[in-house]
Formats: sequence, C-alpha cells, structure tokens
Amino acid sequence: MVGSGGREHALSWKLSQSDKVETVFTAPGNGGTKNNVSIDVNNLDELADFAQKNNCFTVVGPEDPLAAGIVDKFNQLNLKVFGPSQMAAQLESSKIWAKNFMKRNNIPTARFEIFDDAHKAQEYVKSLDYNVVVKADGLAAGKGVIVCNSTKEALDAIQTILVKKTFGDAGNKIIIEERIEGIEASYISLSDGQIAIPMASSQDHKRIFDDDKGPNTGGMGAYSPTPIVTDVLAEKIQKKIIDKTIHSMKNEGIPFKGFLYAGIMVRNNEPYVLEYNVRMGDPECQPIVMRMDFDLYDYFVASIEGKLSDMPSPRWKNQYAVCVVLASKGYPESYAKDEEISGFDFIPNESYVFHAGTKKINGKILSNGGRVLGVTALGDTLKEAIDNAYDTSDKISWNNKYCRRDIGKKGLSYL
Ligand code: AMP
Ligand code: GLY
Repeated sequence: MVGSGGREHALSWKLSQSDKVETVFTAPGNGGTKNNVSIDVNNLDELADFAQKNNCFTVVGPEDPLAAGIVDKFNQLNLKVFGPSQMAAQLESSKIWAKNFMKRNNIPTARFEIFDDAHKAQEYVKSLDYNVVVKADGLAAGKGVIVCNSTKEALDAIQTILVKKTFGDAGNKIIIEERIEGIEASYISLSDGQIAIPMASSQDHKRIFDDDKGPNTGGMGAYSPTPIVTDVLAEKIQKKIIDKTIHSMKNEGIPFKGFLYAGIMVRNNEPYVLEYNVRMGDPECQPIVMRMDFDLYDYFVASIEGKLSDMPSPRWKNQYAVCVVLASKGYPESYAKDEEISGFDFIPNESYVFHAGTKKINGKILSNGGRVLGVTALGDTLKEAIDNAYDTSDKISWNNKYCRRDIGKKGLSYL
C-alpha cells in the first residue's frame, strides 16, 4: 500500500483481512498502519525496488504518485499494480484536460473557459451575470479551488492563483466555471478499463466548520450510504457520467483502471461533474471500507486483469457507517504537531479508529498532520452510526483536537 493517510490505513486494514494476502506493507504509512516501510510516495524507484524484492501486489492510495506515472513504471517492470496510468490520471492531475475531455464527450459539467492571462480572465468574469468558481489547473492538495460569491471575489481569486501564484505552477492556467448551486455527493466506482462497478454511495463534508462554513479542507468526515443518492439518481450518474467516462477513455486509447471518483453536484435532479479523482476519496474511503462484505483484493486483481465483468456484484453491509475526522486545531492552515494522543484503550467493537496524521514513537501515538484520525463506526441507522462515531471520538483526546459536530446531519434531513 502506497500512502500514509486515513484512506490508506482503511485499505490496508481491509486487505489484511483477505486470506489471499500474506502481509500488507504500507509505505510510508502512519502510526496506525502495520509493517511500515519508510519510502516516500514519490520515490518511485525505491518503491519499485521494494515491490520487486518482496513480490508485492501494489495498491496506490494518493494521486501524486499516480500522476507521476507509478503504474506505468511498475507495469514496465512486470510488477502487479492497482491504479490508473499516468495518461488516465490526467482526469485528476489536469483539471483543464478533464474539462476538455468532458466537453468533447458530452459528459455533464459546469460551462467553463480557460485562461493564462489575468487581464483577459478579469474581463471575462466582469462580463458574466452568474457566480463562478476559479480553479488552478494542476494538483494543489485539494486547495486550488476558489468558490466565489461575487465578481470582486472572482477578481481576487484570479489574482491569487494566476498572478500571486499561491499554488505555484499548478496555477499557470486557470479554469473559470459556472458555480452550480445544489447538493454535493461523491460517486466512487471501480473500473477495469472496460466497465465500472459502483462502490457504496457516500457524502463528504469539505468545509472546516459546522454547517459547511469556513475554508475547504481535504474532508472533515463522511458517511455511507447517503440518501441523497437515490436509486434513480445513482442510475443517472452511472449511465450519463461513469459509463460514459470509462467508455470514452477506452475509445480515446487511454483505458482507465482503478477507482474513479466523480465529485457530483445535483441541481434539479440532474448530476454534474465538479471534478474527477483517480483514486478513493479520503475520508469517504473509511466508511465505504467498513461496509464492504467482500474480499477487496479479488476486485483489485480483477481490475488490473480487465475481468470485473466476471465478478459478482459487491455485497455491502446493510448498515450505515460514519467517519468523523479528528483534526489539529488550525487545519487547513498551520497547526501544532507532536502532541500525545490518548484514549485508544476503550474503542467499542462497532468502531474503528483509522489513523492519518499520526506517528508512533516509543509506543506512544503523536499527532503528525492536519487530519489526524478518522473515527469510523457502524450503526443500524444513520443516527445510530453518528452517535457511535461521536461516542468513540469523545473518548480520544489531545491538546489541540478539533472536529466538526455535524457529520452525517445532512443525510438525516433526507431520511
Ligand atoms: P473540486 O476540488 O474541483 O472538487 O472543488 C472543491 C469544491 O469546490 C467542491 O467539492 C465543491 O464544493 C466546490 N465546487 C467546485 N466546482 C464547483 C462548481 N462548478 N459549482 C459549485 N461548487 C463547486
Ligand atoms: N474527500 C475528497 C477527496 O478525497 O478528494
């Protein structure tokens, strides 16, 4: 397993339950993952070397190594690896590439224009009579997107990304797109380049504060399934977005293998793609994995072999799962690290604490990042899963612990 976040801990945990998997190594891992290997996710040479020596089947968690071509490299060396190629990863690594791909294949998304000239971009937003979102083209750790409430905010956003280069070269070009008002959901599927099978539905909570206030983060909590994605809507998303994406990628000679994540906005019952990710969501992965009633390893093998159509439909536990992210106060800006975390001794059975920004030093767990833990719990109802997740969250403490108190609340209002 390549990565060190909550997503990777959840995937490692699940894969280690497969009787076909002997040992799960995680590189570089965190304070919760076992068999950590201290190789950076971007050190493709050393990762390949390790995989070769240990006869690994490699699963890539985060986008950076995928965008850097880890899958192509491993394939050249005849190493088994789960995830999309570098070309296919452009769906996430270049937002402009993704927007143009959607446009030429009639996949529903917000209308947009692309700019590298600040003056032209400014003139453009002044000419519009609707609100916009300004996005840096490249990878910016989920932060290169500015949702604007006015022309003034849009002009400032252009300044920030294109002129001040706050996100570095990722902001050499920008997309200015229509802001779609609606309800957001994550739709994650697994593809083998030919077909894509849906994973359980989920909803993230991207803003730092309750009631979706404050700046965007990587995600402060998630739950699965979400009543927002009804069967009718799921079918629409699958047909108009997912199947079309997989089919179009294949037609363009860039078959997509791996997790395909579509960030969806639903307006008037119609889904639009806000973004693609070429990997599992984090924290969506944690509740989704908790509900898996199948051997994930089998599906990873089928994905890389192009044999997903031979697999039975994945079975999901008929329960809800909720993940509350415990973060360090100050995230997504600056925050303290190296604080000792306590309370791991009394975790009830229906909960699992996935680690993200932690490290283990002399048997103690210390905070080591912005998003520190993902407390994930099952429950027979959404309400019960929420209560279970918060009961466990409240047992865990450190000096600068912070979490949202309303994870899953949006889902309750739909039931
Ligand atoms: P992205 O990284 O592209 O998913 O954008 C981050 C967040 O910005 C999304 O999760 C949405 O909440 C918001 N967003 C992005 N694009 C749009 C859009 N066209 N309309 C409204 N909100 C958007
Ligand atoms: N939780 C959103 C993401 O993984 O991009």
